[in-house]
This record gives sequence, structure tokens and C-alpha cells, in this order.
Amino acid sequence: MTPLLELENVDAFYGAAHILHGMTLRVDVGERVALIGRNGVGKTTVVNTVLGLASMRGGRVALGGANQKRPRPYAAAQHGVAVVPQGRRIVANLTVEENLQLGAAARRKGPWNLAQIYELFPILLERAHTRGTALSGGQQQMLAVGRALMANPALILLDEPTEGLAPVIVDQLAEIFGRVAAQGTALLLIEQNMSLVVRVAARYCAMAKGSVVAEGRVSDSRDCRKDLEDHVAV
Ligand SMILES: Nc1ncnc2c1ncn2[C@@H]1O[C@H](COP(=O)(O)OP(=O)(O)O)[C@@H](O)[C@H]1O
Ligand SMILES: [Mg+2]
Repeated sequence: MTPLLELENVDAFYGAAHILHGMTLRVDVGERVALIGRNGVGKTTVVNTVLGLASMRGGRVALGGANQKRPRPYAAAQHGVAVVPQGRRIVANLTVEENLQLGAAARRKGPWNLAQIYELFPILLERAHTRGTALSGGQQQMLAVGRALMANPALILLDEPTEGLAPVIVDQLAEIFGRVAAQGTALLLIEQNMSLVVRVAARYCAMAKGSVVAEGRVSDSRDCRKDLEDHVAV
């Protein structure tokens, strides 16, 4: 099967700062993969490399089997990769609905449209004409997820989507991610919340210092538990 996303032996930099060292990662169609690791190991840089926001100077990035010599945000969008960025990045001067419409810019065919997003997140319908940044943190995260879904992606990269959110909101998002995955969308979940990783992901890759140092199936085996405990905040 052709992977949706593949990084092979990637070296990535910000200027002269060498952040990813031989990073290798693969996400197949419909897969639920967690990318874990402590602050500063390079998780966000993986996303930035796929988008071309960090510079790749070695190795290979492929989207849907197509090698990306110079990765770019629009290339990712065209290949069905949507991003829920760390810190959410809701556009300040746009309403909730306008933020959602932005996500549809690279619109592919698929099940998600405004009505579907509002069914998934009724609060966004209630607040459709409010400025996006006037929402609570949890609601902004729902908006960021809704915006990504509007592109009808084959794969969503979720960069620490539950950071700073109350447990009740984390539970809601876990349920939503399950529904999105059940509908066939692959997820790469960057997370430090172990309980969310266990609920959402089937496989994990643990990073340290810019590369993968452990990986396996998510299960209640001792090896898995130890890897999760070593690489995420409990
Ligand atoms: N724009 C940047 N320029 C230079 N260094 C950066 C930049 N962004 C992040 N870094 C550094 O790259 C390393 C990895 O960062 P990041 O990928 O954000 O880690 P993580 O997401 O795992 O917390 C850190 O040491 C961080 O300080
Ligand atoms: Mg990060």
C-alpha cells in the first residue's frame, strides 16, 4: 500500500540549527499513529518539514507516494494532508464560519462540509458568527479541527491538540478523533497526554533528539507502557 506520508532518514534545519537527525516515519491509509516525545525533541519540526517551514537538507519526504523535493504547504493540501497546528492559530479577524470556510480552500471530495462540521461540534453552529478568537480554548481547538476537516483530508496532523485544555474537553476531543478515524481519515496525533494516546492511536513512534528511538503497537504490554511513560508526560 502506498503510504499517505513518508519521511525517510530526514535531516531538517532552522537556519544552521540541525533539528531532525535521520527522522523516519510512515502513515498508511486510515492509520492512527501517535508521535510522542518530550518538549523540544522535534515533533513540531516534523510537521514543519512536511509543510516546508523547516528546511530539509537530506533524506526524503513523500506524500501519497510522490517525493517532495521542496515540500510546500499547498503541496501537502493537494495531497490531502491537513494540519491542526500547535497553538491552534485561529485567524483573529474572521468569524467561526469564515475560519471554517478557509479550511475548504483546497477542497477535495469527501463527506465533510459545514453542515457535517456543525453536527460534530454544535457549539460552532451556535457561535458561527462570533469572532474565532473570542471562543474559549477548547472551542478554538474544535474550530481548528473543524477547519482541517473542511479540506476532506486523507490525513490530519494534530499537533498537541489537547495542550492546556480541561479533561472534559480532552474527553470530547478523544471521542471526536475516534469518529473521524472511523470514517476513514488517518491521524498523526502528536501528544504528551498518555491517556489520549492510548484512546486514539493504534501505533506509536517515540522521538528523542530529532529521531525515532522506539516504536510499537499501542497495547497494555509492559514494553508499550514503558515507552509511553518514558516519552510523554503521564
Ligand atoms: N524557528 C525555529 N528556529 C530555531 N530553532 C527552533 C525553531 N523552532 C523550534 N526550534 C528548536 O527546535 C527544537 C525542536 O523544536 P520542536 O520541533 O518545536 O519540538 P517539540 O514540538 O517536540 O516540542 C527545539 O530545540 C527548539 O528550540
Ligand atoms: Mg511542538
